[in-house]
Amino acid sequence: WDEQFLPPPLRIDDQARAQKINARLSDLILTGATLRRVGEVFEREIERGLKEQPSSLQMENTYIPELPDGTEEGLFLALDLGGTNFRVLLLELRGGELVKEDVKQYHISDALRVGPGQDLFNFLADCVLDFVRSEGMENEKLSLGFTFSFPMKQHSILSGELITWTKSFKCGGMEGVDVAALLQKCLRARNLDITVRVLLNDTTGTLVAGAHIDPSVGIGVILGTGSNGCYMERASRVQHWEAAHERVHDVCVDVEWGAFGDNGCLDFIRTDIDREVDAGSLLVASFTFEKYIGGKYLGDILRAALAALTAERLFPAAPKPNALATADLSMFEEESMRGSWECTQATLTSACGTPVSAADALVAQHVARVVSNRAAQLVSVCIATLLRRMDRPYVGVAVDGSVFRRHPRIARLMDKYIALLAPKHKFSLLAAEDGSGKGSALTAAIAARMAARQ
Ligand code: GLC
Repeated sequence: WDEQFLPPPLRIDDQARAQKINARLSDLILTGATLRRVGEVFEREIERGLKEQPSSLQMENTYIPELPDGTEEGLFLALDLGGTNFRVLLLELRGGELVKEDVKQYHISDALRVGPGQDLFNFLADCVLDFVRSEGMENEKLSLGFTFSFPMKQHSILSGELITWTKSFKCGGMEGVDVAALLQKCLRARNLDITVRVLLNDTTGTLVAGAHIDPSVGIGVILGTGSNGCYMERASRVQHWEAAHERVHDVCVDVEWGAFGDNGCLDFIRTDIDREVDAGSLLVASFTFEKYIGGKYLGDILRAALAALTAERLFPAAPKPNALATADLSMFEEESMRGSWECTQATLTSACGTPVSAADALVAQHVARVVSNRAAQLVSVCIATLLRRMDRPYVGVAVDGSVFRRHPRIARLMDKYIALLAPKHKFSLLAAEDGSGKGSALTAAIAARMAARQ
């Protein structure tokens, strides 16, 4: 069992070098036993989070008690904020089916991502104004779903305060601010008759969009710039429940697993390479688990690992800062699957600023494999733990995000590791493309349905 977690060995002619490389990378390789321990700690943190005891997991009640049932109707605007692009969508649902979808992307500058929060929200409202004008709908009354992919303290399905920024955002003056109310204010200031109906996380959107395709979906996962998951938890196990909301059978809980271990409970897997990546990140010592998995960091882990090998003369030169992106890691993986190395070699030669041999390219491909393997294992531990908690005969896991979509083997690795870690639980991974957008509109329609019943 334990053997099945190991990445394949490094195959280069120089055996002595291969041995030394293996020794230097050994901390990045997790055994089955270590992964079991990570799962146990995760479960304990889940329990504590749900009981509102100190925990690195927020376990946020999203107040989404219902999933799509095929009766969703209406025209909705959806906003998607979380990555480097901001998207505005117009979606039309008829009998639960998506019949129209218009999308426009807006680039968010670095200055806006780290400037005052008010400027960012004014910009978002300006984009909405631009979008509805281009649709000829600036005078229409519209409902809006806001996918805000950051940790929030939610008070209801349409209100939530930002807890902390993650990924590449760090706007001032926003912590504790109700982001739905602020967006609403900025829209009104532009004389738009648009009402924010739901505020949700991208994992929630993915779960809802996945459940729309397959009703057995009970977990939503994002494996993109950042990583996180949500799942349907029994209402009786959720302590935080604000008075105005009816307690229902199951409720969607946003785990915020990116922050797993920020209290030190996971320090046993942290390596010097992770410390270096963290130290160079925008939000140091925050969301450390995400820094093992997220697309914002995988390229940098690869760079830091190659730099560590260089320091021990096991690699010709360290790649320059920011010279390797997660897309490069995916390319190294893809090329190694085909048994070639030319593109890897060319990329490294430019990233390191010195000629790199074919054997060096194979070493870098091996490092990419080790880094990808660990990311797949850690995200799999989280999913396997949720499967065990839910204990249903079968659970569909809706997944979205750039790493899941573009990394050539991550989906297969996750399938394998989840099955090894939760052998008694049947599941399947379902690609829920654009869960953030579609899920937002579907959730707004669910909210409308619930409101009509009250
Ligand atoms: C970060 C955010 C989280 C989001 C995830 C994926 O971890 O804190 O809310 O779901 O990124 O985008």
